[in-house]
Amino acid sequence: MGMIITFFGCMGDVGTSMIATSCAQDLAGLRQRVLLIYASSHVGDDYVEDDTRVSIDDLRRSDSISAEAVRAIIVKDTCKFHYIKTVREITQIKYFDPGVITNIVRAVGKEYDFILVDGGCDIQYPLTASALMAADKRFFIVTGTMKALRRFCSVRDVLFIPKGMYEDSHIIINRYDKKQDAVASSQQIQQRFGLPCVEVPSVKGGARAETDGRTLLGKGCYNQAIRNITIEIRGRRG
Ligand SMILES: Nc1ncnc2c1ncn2[C@@H]1O[C@H](COP(=O)(O)OP(=O)(O)OP(=O)(O)O)[C@@H](O)[C@H]1O
Ligand SMILES: [Mg+2]
Repeated sequence: MGMIITFFGCMGDVGTSMIATSCAQDLAGLRQRVLLIYASSHVGDDYVEDDTRVSIDDLRRSDSISAEAVRAIIVKDTCKFHYIKTVREITQIKYFDPGVITNIVRAVGKEYDFILVDGGCDIQYPLTASALMAADKRFFIVTGTMKALRRFCSVRDVLFIPKGMYEDSHIIINRYDKKQDAVASSQQIQQRFGLPCVEVPSVKGGARAETDGRTLLGKGCYNQAIRNITIEIRGRRG
C-alpha cells in the first residue's frame, strides 16, 4: 500500500501546492509510482496544465468508493505522476466525507508507492481534515514569518497535538515571503517546535512559473531542497 504524505500550509500562499507538486515530480523522476491528490480549498492544480474537468467532486456523491470510480478521476496523461484535481464546485466543499482520502487510498493505494496530498490550509474543511488524518507522515509548511509561526502554533495546540498528529512530522520552511516580514532562523524554529526542519529557498520566477502552469523544479538550489524533502519521504519506506 502506498505511503500517504500530507502537506499542510500553516496559512494561505506559503507554497504548499508548489512544494507538493515539486515533490511528486521529483519522486516520479526517481521511478516511484506517485498519485498526487489536490485536496485544498484553494484549488491548487495551477502547476499542472490540462483541460480535464473530472475532479474529486465526482466521487463525493457515490456511496462506496470503488477502484473504478477513483481511476475514472485520475489524470494520467500530462505528467510522469498521476493526479486528482481538487473541488470544482467550491461552494460544496463543506460536504465531503471526512474519510474521503482514506477511502481513495483504500481503493487504489496498492497501485502507487506514494500518495501525496496537498491538504491546503483550512482545517475547518473535511477535505483538509481527511488529508491530515489519513497521513502516514505530515509536512507542515511555514514561511519564517512570525505570522505564519503563530498560526502554526494555534493549529498545533488545538489539533495536531491532541490528535496525535505532531510527533514524527516535519516542518518545511519555505523562505518565499512577499512582504519580507521579520523572520526566524531555521535553528530558532527547530528549537521552538522540536521538529526537524527542511528549508526551501526563495527563487526568482515563482509567480511566472505559476502563470505558466509549471513548478520551479529545474532551478538548482530549489531542486536540492525538494530532493532533501523526498529523501525524507523515501527514507521511511526503509
Ligand atoms: N520557494 C519559492 N520561491 C519563489 N516563489 C515561490 C516559492 N514557493 C512558492 N512560490 C510562489 O508563491 C506563490 C504561492 O505558491 P502556492 O500556490 O504553492 O501556495 P499555496 O500555499 O498553495 O497557496 P494557496 O493558499 O493559494 O493554496 C506562487 O506564485 C508560487 O509560484
Ligand atoms: Mg495551494
